[in-house]
Amino acid sequence: MSAGKPTRRQFNAAVGAAIGAAVAPSISRSQTTMPSNSATLTVHADAPQHKISRHLYGHFAEHLGRCIYEGIWVGEDSSIPHTRGIRNDVVSALRNLKIPNLRWPGGCFADEYHWRDGIGPREKRPRRINTHWGGVTEPNSFGTHEFLDLCEQLGCEPYISGNVGSGTVREMAEWIEYITLPEGSSLADERRANGREKPWKIRFWGVGNENWGCGGHMTPEYYVNEFRRYATYCRNYGDNKLYRIACGANGNDYRWTDVVMEKRAANLMHGISVHYYTTIWEHKGSATHFEQPEWFRTLSLASKLQELLAKHIAMMDKHDPQKRVGLVLDEWGTWFDVEPNTNPGFLYQQNTMRDALVAGLSLNILHRHADRVSMANIAQVVNVLQAVILTEKEKMVLTPTYHVFEMFKVHHDAKYLASETESPTYEVKGESMPQVNASASTDEKGKVHVSLCNLHHEQAATVRCVLRGMKASQVSGRVLTTPQINTFNAFDAPERAKPVEFNGAKVQGDGLAVDLPAKSVVVLEIS
Ligand code: AHR
Repeated sequence: MSAGKPTRRQFNAAVGAAIGAAVAPSISRSQTTMPSNSATLTVHADAPQHKISRHLYGHFAEHLGRCIYEGIWVGEDSSIPHTRGIRNDVVSALRNLKIPNLRWPGGCFADEYHWRDGIGPREKRPRRINTHWGGVTEPNSFGTHEFLDLCEQLGCEPYISGNVGSGTVREMAEWIEYITLPEGSSLADERRANGREKPWKIRFWGVGNENWGCGGHMTPEYYVNEFRRYATYCRNYGDNKLYRIACGANGNDYRWTDVVMEKRAANLMHGISVHYYTTIWEHKGSATHFEQPEWFRTLSLASKLQELLAKHIAMMDKHDPQKRVGLVLDEWGTWFDVEPNTNPGFLYQQNTMRDALVAGLSLNILHRHADRVSMANIAQVVNVLQAVILTEKEKMVLTPTYHVFEMFKVHHDAKYLASETESPTYEVKGESMPQVNASASTDEKGKVHVSLCNLHHEQAATVRCVLRGMKASQVSGRVLTTPQINTFNAFDAPERAKPVEFNGAKVQGDGLAVDLPAKSVVVLEIS
C-alpha cells in the first residue's frame, strides 16, 4: 500500500501539511467564530440536468480482514442466522440501503486472486496466503458462486475486478465465460455441475486494480497496452453486455488518465477508475480520538475530491468530449489508524460523525459530476475502513456513514438540480473552507430533495434556500447529528448516532428557511 503511491501521498500530504500547519497547535473559539452564520442556497428547480446514477452509491467488499469472512460469510454451519452461509442481518441492512452494486474480490487482493481456487466443493478448495492483508490463510470458502449469490440476495449488480497483475488473459477470459455463457462449452457445463444452471448476468468488469502499484507497478503506457489485450478477450456471451473498466489513477496522477484515455481502444473501454482516500498517509490518526484540528483537516481533505474529479474529468474531456467513457471512483473514503489491539493488516476502524460528514460531502460532490462519473464505491462495506456496517460475532452495528447512505438514497437515479451556495467560511488559522455544502435533485414524482452538510464542529448555520421555478408548499426532513464530534455507535450503544425527524425547515417567501445544527447532515423533501 505504502510503496508505489507517491502521487497519492504527495497530493494528500501537501493538503495535509498546509492544513496541519494552519491548525497546529490548537484552535481557539475566536479563531473559529465566523463573521456570519447565514448561508444562501439557490436551487434551480426548473432546470433538471443529468441523472445521478444510483451506481454512485456502490460498495466494495475485499478479502481483507473481517470484511468477507465474519462480516458477510459465516458459513453454512454457523449459529448466526444466515442464508446459504451469508449473514441475514447484513443482507437486510444493505437491502435497506438499496445497494446498487458491489465490487469484489479486491482491491490489491484481486490481482493475486485466481478464480478457480474459489469454485467446486468447498472442502477441496486450496488454501492460500493473503499476502496483502495480514498474511492470513485464505480458505477460498467464499468464491464466485457465493459472491454472485450474495449479489442476488442483495438485489444488486456485481462488479468483478479481474486479475491483470499476476493472472493471464486466458484466465480472465475463461472466468467471464464460466459466469455468463448459457451453454455449449465445457466451462458452462462446469458451472452447471457446480450448481448453477443458468448463467449470471454481469455488466461491470474491472480490468485490473491499482496496476500502478500492488497490481504490477506498471507505467500508464504499459498498462494501456495490457488493457487493450485483456479487454479484447473480455467477451459478451448471449445477451450479456460487459461494461469494461480500466484501472485508473492513483489520486492526483492526472497523467495516468491522460495516457490511458489517449491510447485506449475506444470500443473496448467503457469506464476508467480513480481511487481517492481521505487520509494523510504518514499520520492517519485515530478514528475516534481526535479534536477539532483533526476534524477540520479530514473534512478539508475530503472537500479536495471536487478538485480531483474536475481535473481527471478535464483530461477525459480532452480525449472523449462526448463523455462516452465513465469515470469510476471505485475506492473512496476515510483511512485512519486501526483500532487498538486489532490486526494492523485488517484495517478495522470505528466510524464517527466526522465520517458521516465525509460521506455527505463526498456524495454531494459526486452528484455535481454525475454527467461523467458513472459509478463510485465506498471502501469498504463491512468491518474495513469507512464501513457502513461493523460486526462482532452475532452483533451488528450501523455506522453514522450507513445513515448518510440511507438518508441520501432519495437521490438514486434522480435528476441533478444545479445550485449555488453562498456559505460562510469555516476558518481555522488562515485555512478555510465553506461551512455549508449542498446538492439537490428532483425525482420522477417531481419531489425535490436537498442534502445539506454543516461542516462546522460547533456553529449552527441559518440557510435561506431560494427555489427558482418552484413554489414550495411543504417541507419535511431528517437530520443526523451527534452530541460530540467523535460520537460513534458501539456494540453496546448502537443508536447514539441515528437520523431523526428534522423540524428546522419551514416554507418562507420564495423558498425555505433552514436552521442547520452544527456538525450535521440534513436531507429535505420539498413539494
Ligand atoms: O481498500 C484497501 C486497499 O486500498 C485496496 O486493496 C487497494 O486497492 C487500495 O490501495
